[in-house]
Amino acid sequence: MLKVTTKDPLHYDGHLLVYFAQKKGDKKLICNAKEVEKALRQPMKAGDFIGEKGQTFLFYPQQCAKGEGGVFKAKRVLVVGLGEFEGDVASCREEFRLAAGTAVTTARSLQARDALTVLPGFLKFSALGVAECVAEGLILGNYRFSKYKKENGSNENGKPLTKLTIHAGGFTNTQVEKGVALGRASALAGCAARDMANEPGNGWTPQRFADFGKKIAHNSDLKCRVLEKSDMKKLGMGGLISVNQGSALPPKLVILEYISGKKNPTLMFVGKGLTFDSGGISLKPSPGMEEMKYDMCGGAAVISAMQIVAKEKPGDVNVVALIPATDNMSGSAATRPGDIITHYNGVTSEVVNTDAEGRLILADALSYGVEKYSPDIVIDLATLTGAVIFGLGHHRTGLLSNNDELVTRIMDAGDDAGEPLWRLPLGPEYTKQLKSEVADLKNIGGKPAGTITAAAYLEHFIGKTPWAHLDIAGTAWNFTEKSYIPKGPSGIGVRTIANLIRNWYPLKKTSKG
Ligand code: BES
Ligand code: MN
Ligand code: ZN
Repeated sequence: MLKVTTKDPLHYDGHLLVYFAQKKGDKKLICNAKEVEKALRQPMKAGDFIGEKGQTFLFYPQQCAKGEGGVFKAKRVLVVGLGEFEGDVASCREEFRLAAGTAVTTARSLQARDALTVLPGFLKFSALGVAECVAEGLILGNYRFSKYKKENGSNENGKPLTKLTIHAGGFTNTQVEKGVALGRASALAGCAARDMANEPGNGWTPQRFADFGKKIAHNSDLKCRVLEKSDMKKLGMGGLISVNQGSALPPKLVILEYISGKKNPTLMFVGKGLTFDSGGISLKPSPGMEEMKYDMCGGAAVISAMQIVAKEKPGDVNVVALIPATDNMSGSAATRPGDIITHYNGVTSEVVNTDAEGRLILADALSYGVEKYSPDIVIDLATLTGAVIFGLGHHRTGLLSNNDELVTRIMDAGDDAGEPLWRLPLGPEYTKQLKSEVADLKNIGGKPAGTITAAAYLEHFIGKTPWAHLDIAGTAWNFTEKSYIPKGPSGIGVRTIANLIRNWYPLKKTSKG
């Protein structure tokens, strides 16, 4: 669905040809093609298009003189402004995604079916990086979920394009091919995660996580194991069992292993796969409850990222993913507030509020994964607390960790992916809020610092392993409005994980940061 071409853009006779323009002061615009630069002179003089970030200019070559755009065979030509193009690498990468997102959004609103995007080869920026980010912006921006809509996939924003093509525009082709391959893999994984999240609770069930795991393991170097309810009982996964008790659907613990070499470092990812969160007996209020189908976005991010691993087969890391999956319902066997459960590692917990269920299923997955695989690091992703939305809004993922170096790595990987994070503290004063009169822990720590106490709960299940918890409750959907992020699920986390895996090198210290 996204290809690289070496054919001269002049000969492209499709629906939309896209160029990028860089602003140089107030009087100059730089673009790949002289004809386009000429075509932009009048609009620039008139002040209609000055190449600002996100600005667009559309013209119809058939109406233009030869030297001013008339040479193109395309039905339309769209120019997207890049502004002056300054800033650090991460912000430039984001600019490319945004510009590509703007291009594809405009194309859709014009009812275009195909588009050729010419990369800004005149810029002093890594060809691979530009190609990667433009590919991401195009594919992620072209995403729509219309599976359950009758009118053949269209909605108010037009139909997705069926054919996207990139031209290197002066960059080295081999680098562009490499970048497009990276961006395409990440973006398709992001779209896969969005598809899962868009499915309702009766669509994306725990079984679907298991099916998806098996599907990506099939014919790849990944191994998929699915722990069933009976296995969980034998293993003593009291948290997962407890959350599932009120449900008619069986829970699944989906495990994907990618082992490239016994001596290689092992990265472990754990994702909350709560396919619908009613709150259980501590029932949530009805308004907005339908949104709780998104409570599996951590699991979606982790399992979709494994799709990238299956494709790219990194030679220098092992990657293990665990997705504890169940819904949280209030059937007659449901956990009662006050019930005491025993987690996989023997820690007992008083379930004061059955709506604080994410930590219960993550606790078992984390302690099981850490014991079985002795990973070098473990990162969990979860839509864990509403409180993180009060703290950080929908713009940054909450990050909590026991290791400073791991924090830096994740923050950098997130910035490079356009998925920013912000760290919150941990500490004994917060952990104290989880003290129970009757068990080792209780599952809620009261109103203050809800995001931190949730993470403090998880900290009891990772031993000394360098660990980070990403609370994506605010960013998994309604993430900051962007050209390449439509309303609804964002697919957050997928590309941060991909960056971490692709660029991994061992942490310096393995002790607590
Ligand atoms: N899945 C929710 C967290 C959530 C809330 C995600 C709002 C997205 C939007 C989680 O299971 C939950 O219910 N958390 C409770 C914890 C509380 C009972 C301590 C919350 O945040 O209210
Ligand atoms: Mn809940
Ligand atoms: Zn939940």
